[in-house]
Amino acid sequence: MQLKSIAVSLLLLASCEALRILVVFPMASKSHSILGHGVVNRLLEAGHEVVHLTAIPREEPEKNLKEIVVPDGVESLSKSYPENFNSLTLKNIVGKPNVDSTFFFDLAFDFHKLFLEDKNVVEFLGNPKEKFDAVIIEWFFSDVVAGIAPLFQCPLIWLGSTEAHWEVIKLVDNIPGPADNVDLFSTHTPPLHFWDRLSELWKMFKKIIKMNLISYPKEKELYKNYFPRIADKRGVTMPSYETAVYNGSLLLLNSHPTIRTPHSLPQSAKYVGGYHIDFKPKPLPEDIQYLMDTARYGVIYFSMGSNLKSSDMSEEMKRRILYIFSTFKQRIFWKFEGELNNIPPNVFLMKWAPQQSILAHPTLRLFITHGGQLSTTEAIHYGVPVIGVPVLADQHLNMDTVIQKGLGLKVNLNVDNFAYELGLAMTEMLITQKYKQRARELSEIYHHRPISPRKEIVHWVEHVVKTQGAPHLRSPSLMMPWYQKMYIDLITIVCSLLILSLNLINRIRYYYSIRHKVNKAEKQIQKSALNKKVR
Ligand SMILES: *[C@@H]1O[C@H](CO)[C@@H](O)[C@H](O)[C@H]1NC(C)=O
Repeated sequence: MQLKSIAVSLLLLASCEALRILVVFPMASKSHSILGHGVVNRLLEAGHEVVHLTAIPREEPEKNLKEIVVPDGVESLSKSYPENFNSLTLKNIVGKPNVDSTFFFDLAFDFHKLFLEDKNVVEFLGNPKEKFDAVIIEWFFSDVVAGIAPLFQCPLIWLGSTEAHWEVIKLVDNIPGPADNVDLFSTHTPPLHFWDRLSELWKMFKKIIKMNLISYPKEKELYKNYFPRIADKRGVTMPSYETAVYNGSLLLLNSHPTIRTPHSLPQSAKYVGGYHIDFKPKPLPEDIQYLMDTARYGVIYFSMGSNLKSSDMSEEMKRRILYIFSTFKQRIFWKFEGELNNIPPNVFLMKWAPQQSILAHPTLRLFITHGGQLSTTEAIHYGVPVIGVPVLADQHLNMDTVIQKGLGLKVNLNVDNFAYELGLAMTEMLITQKYKQRARELSEIYHHRPISPRKEIVHWVEHVVKTQGAPHLRSPSLMMPWYQKMYIDLITIVCSLLILSLNLINRIRYYYSIRHKVNKAEKQIQKSALNKKVR
C-alpha cells in the first residue's frame, strides 16, 4: 500500500519535468496555423519539447521543436472542389444566407483523409521511437484524428478554434440545447424568438441526422482502415472508434466570455482565448512604425483576413472605397494583396501586415475587420473598437456579439453601398468616444483573470499529464447512452404502464357493464315471471 503511494507520488513529481508533447493542426489555413504556432510557443516557453504537425512551418529552426511538414490540404481540395471554393467568393456570398456548416462535413472528411494519408504523417505516426506525454489536436468538423492518441498511449487534448458550440462540446459532454447555444454558423444571436429557436432546432436535427447517417460511418471506416495498420508497427492495439473519439481528457477553447457568449462549460472544457497573443508585441517594421508614430489624427486599419481576398472586389467597389477613405484625415492601412491605381495620400496598401503590433500601437483608432475569432480576440486584447464586415462561417455571430457588447458597428458587405455605409460607420465611430471607452472596459475585463491564457494553456496541459488524463474532470455523461440521459427508458416504462392500466380499466369496465346488463336482464325476467304468477 505504502509502496504504491510512494510510486504514485514519484510519478507525479517526475511528470513536472519537461514534457514531450505532440501538437497536431491538420487545418492548413493561415489563421488556424497561428493558433497551432501559439500552442507550440507557449509549450516551448515553459521548457517542454514539441513535435508539431503543420502545413505552415517556421522560417527559423527552434530549440526543442521538431516540425513535420504536412500537405496544404486546403489548397489541394480547392483544386478538387473548385465549385465549393468558388462559391466562397464575394460575388456569391453577398446577400445570401451564411454558408451551411454541413458543407464542411464532406470537405473536412476529405481534408483529414488527405492529411492522414500523407507519406510524412504515416511515417511519423508509425515510428515506434516517437513517444509523447500528451497529444494536442485541433478539432475541425471531423473526429477521426482522435486515433492518434491511442497510437502513443497518451492523453488526448482537443483544441477548439472557436466558441463553445455544441459540435465541439459533444466531444467531452452532453450536447447543449440549441435554444441558447446556437449553431456556430448561425446568424441568430441569443436570446432567440420563437421562429429562430425553431430554426436552430431544425438545423441541429438535420446535422445530427447527417452526422449519424453519413459522416460517422465514413470516419469509422477510415479509422478502421488506417489506424490498426500503424498501431501494428508501434506494437499497440487500437480501441473502438467511439472509445478513441470520446476519450479526450480536455477541450481547450479559443474563446472567452468577453469575446463571445458566457456559455456554461463542462469541467473538462477550458476557455483559453487569447493564448496565441505574445506577451509583448513584436516591434513594427520601421516604415510602419514611422507612419503610426507621426499620424496626427490617428490610424485606421482595414483587413478582411485571409479567407476573403480583397482582390475579389470589383474595380468599381475598390474605387469607391478609395474615394471614401480619401475623405478622412486619418491614415488608413489597407491589407490588400493586389495593385491599385490612384491611391489617395492617406491610404497605404500592405500585402502583409503585422496585425498584433498595429493593434497594440496607441495611435490606432479603429479596426475594420471581417470578424474572425482571432481578429476579434486581438481587438479586445488591445482594446480597439471595431467595424465588423462579416463574410462567412462564425464571423456573423462573432460580430453580432461584439456589437451587442457595444464594441463597434457592423456594415453589411454589399456591392453597391458598401463604401458609403462603411464611411458612415467610420465617421460615427470617430466622432463619439463611447466605442473607444467600451473597448477599453472590455479589454480590462478580458485581462482581469487569475492567470493569463498564455500560462493557463500550459497549466492545463501539464495538469492532464500529471493526473494521467484528468479522469476527475471527465463528465459522467460520457458513460451513459443518450436514451438514459434523456430518460427515454423511464418515459417508455411510464407510457407502457399507462397503456397497460388503461387497458385493464377498460376491461374491468367492460366486464362490469356486461354484468350489469346481465343482472338487469335477469331481474326483468324474474319480474315478468312474477307478474305472470300474480295474474
Ligand atoms: C483513455 O484515456 C486515458 C487517459 O489519457 C488513457 O490512460 C487510456 O489509455 C485511454 N484509453 C484508450 C482505450 O485509449
